[in-house]
Amino acid sequence: MEQNNIAKAAQIIKEGGVVAFPTETVYGLGANALNPMAVAKIFALKERPTFDPLIVHIASVDDIARLAINVPDAALHLARVFWPGPLTIVLPKSSLVPDLVTSGLATVGLRMPQNDIALNLIKTSGCPIAAPSANKFGKLSPTSAAHVKKQLPNVDYILDGGSTHVGIESTVVGIEGTVCTFLRPGLISQADIEKALPGLFTFKTHSSHKLVAPGLLDSHYSPHKPLYIINKATVILPKSGVIAHNQQRAYADALKTVYTSNCDNMIEVAANLFAAMHQLEDDALIDNIYIEPVEENGLGLAIMDRVNKAAFQYK
Ligand code: TXA
Ligand code: MG
Repeated sequence: MEQNNIAKAAQIIKEGGVVAFPTETVYGLGANALNPMAVAKIFALKERPTFDPLIVHIASVDDIARLAINVPDAALHLARVFWPGPLTIVLPKSSLVPDLVTSGLATVGLRMPQNDIALNLIKTSGCPIAAPSANKFGKLSPTSAAHVKKQLPNVDYILDGGSTHVGIESTVVGIEGTVCTFLRPGLISQADIEKALPGLFTFKTHSSHKLVAPGLLDSHYSPHKPLYIINKATVILPKSGVIAHNQQRAYADALKTVYTSNCDNMIEVAANLFAAMHQLEDDALIDNIYIEPVEENGLGLAIMDRVNKAAFQYK
């Protein structure tokens, strides 16, 4: 099932099937974005509620014009600066985009991934590809083909591109008039976006009260074992695994310690975060998972967004 035959995967997409594929962030579960029957299969496989809209993946900045209307210049500018790359831009949708893709919203999230397999797949399929992360709804995001297979053994085809290098999902921003709203933090930070839109924009961080983006649900991305964020008072229970970010720090009470980085390098922590959670989730000797927090600035903000959601039930 895991192979690298892009032509075959594209054929499956053209015929209304579903293909898992790598992007630079996490693996996506893709179908022809313009075919509602194909898109419905994504929701069924993921067991995802249909109120959670999908991101549409495209292979060129020019594709924005078909899928979105009234596109502000600033949005085009962001696309030119950051694409291909881990940025999703939410824009008013064109009538070509089925309502199922956007969960009935008048907007669509568009992104051009920075991954040759993904870009080739989109081009060879000849259609935009709607794709959420290739995991069951609410569970850990996949950063390898094996992670996809674990949760979604029935997907038609998995293109194997090895481990994804960013490791956490794209930054999601909305642009309306002169207001840029941050809907989900990611590798591209608010400071990066502010630098690209100098002086013209009001920047807002979305408050999670209104459900504009269900990625903002408090609980998300969870392993199926208890996950606790370590603090000064934490006592590590027996049969526990720890996720740490610096090899200088050891946990004598842990059965196993998985390091995301040797030296608190946040790029490495993000890249290895979900794989570390998958590893301890899969380990039959481990009952509880503990994770070190990181400082909430820059990429640390996006990392802690995922960690807080994964640990939500245990805080
Ligand atoms: O890095 C990524 O973005 C990965 C790869 C596969 O591209 N995809 C991903 O998809 O993370 P998903 O479905 O797991 O998360 C998409 C997020 C959700 O929080 C969704 O609510 C939000 O994007 N989103 C999509 N369309 C939206 C829209 N029209 N308005 C607001 N939020 C939207
Ligand atoms: Mg997801």
